[in-house]
Amino acid sequence: MSFAQYMDIALYDESIGFYATSGRAGRRGDFLTSPEVGPLFGALIARRLDEEWFALGSPDTFVVVEFGAGPGTLARSIAFAKPECAPALRYLMVERSAEQRAAHADHLENWLGDLDAAGVDSFVRGVGPGPEFASSPIAPYGVTGVVLANELLDNLAFDIVRHDGEGNFERLNVHLAEDGLEFVVAPTEVPASLAVVLSSAAAGEWMPLQEHAVQWVMAAIDRLERGVVIAIDYGASNAEIAARPEMGWLRTFVGQDRGGHPLDAPGSCDITSDVAVDQLATAVRPTVATTQRQFLERLGIAQLVEEGRQIWSEKATAPDVEALRARSRIGEAESLLESGGLGDFLVLEWTI
Ligand SMILES: C[S@@+](CC[C@H](N)C(=O)[O-])C[C@H]1O[C@@H](n2cnc3c(N)ncnc32)[C@H](O)[C@@H]1O
Repeated sequence: MSFAQYMDIALYDESIGFYATSGRAGRRGDFLTSPEVGPLFGALIARRLDEEWFALGSPDTFVVVEFGAGPGTLARSIAFAKPECAPALRYLMVERSAEQRAAHADHLENWLGDLDAAGVDSFVRGVGPGPEFASSPIAPYGVTGVVLANELLDNLAFDIVRHDGEGNFERLNVHLAEDGLEFVVAPTEVPASLAVVLSSAAAGEWMPLQEHAVQWVMAAIDRLERGVVIAIDYGASNAEIAARPEMGWLRTFVGQDRGGHPLDAPGSCDITSDVAVDQLATAVRPTVATTQRQFLERLGIAQLVEEGRQIWSEKATAPDVEALRARSRIGEAESLLESGGLGDFLVLEWTI
């Protein structure tokens, strides 16, 4: 099978897939994402949602579709931040893993349940006092609002390909040998729309072919009548990714550590790649592309940290939960803005 087929099973198969069984984002999980650093990230995303709600003319129903919501931590932080759009907010967590969706009810007031297609449809068309939250494996079309994905695209199945400088491509297939799984090189075709970008890599270097991520961008844009698609992830240009020594772009994670070879013990670890931004741009070029640092600075992270310092200094002698949360913003901001870490992540926005 192709590596993409293998990866889809290893991550998402209902009985053995990493995300269907043990895999989790979070401090007690397998890797730390921005929402899992603490509530500050969600407070800033809440500001971005408010910006969009106002830009759309404060509609009575404002839909946020969060893809790859994991255990629902970002939604909880957004609810906690009480954005101005809250009365209009219908927030749908689209998560492929039933195991992770089952966690969404925890600590989320106004959670309306795990919905089927008909339920999703009426949820996103509902009016009345928000915020309301719901979960589903299914996403709606024809919505006004925001489609959001934090660290989803790096987790969508990709193939591993290279070219010979003369327009011929090969890919790595996964083969069951006597002593386990192994890679086998096979000739392949690549989509014409991606051939130019893939050819920008040096001949002979393996790189990810991220067709599913490209298709996700196209579908995400199609889902919106008006609004914005926001995807946040680690990424670089295709040529930069391919140039990483020893396929350094292909990584596995488990228990907050790097995992082993991606073909060892399928289902036991996360499999991920840097996202090739110029492959995504073959779908539609992003309206805005910034680093996470620039994005969070524009949304006022410094002001929220300063506010946290003030609250802490007023209550330091007898700190309550609010004071501790306020103090924690300082460390959270350092993590979210870190060079060589989360601060260098890319925020891609497509305004519709
Ligand atoms: C790396 S986790 C990120 C979780 C969360 N967004 C965060 O930043 O902490 C990726 C999540 O995307 C989910 N996922 C993968 N493919 C998906 C798809 N096509 N639709 C919805 N969720 C998907 C996985 O099950 C997993 O929970």
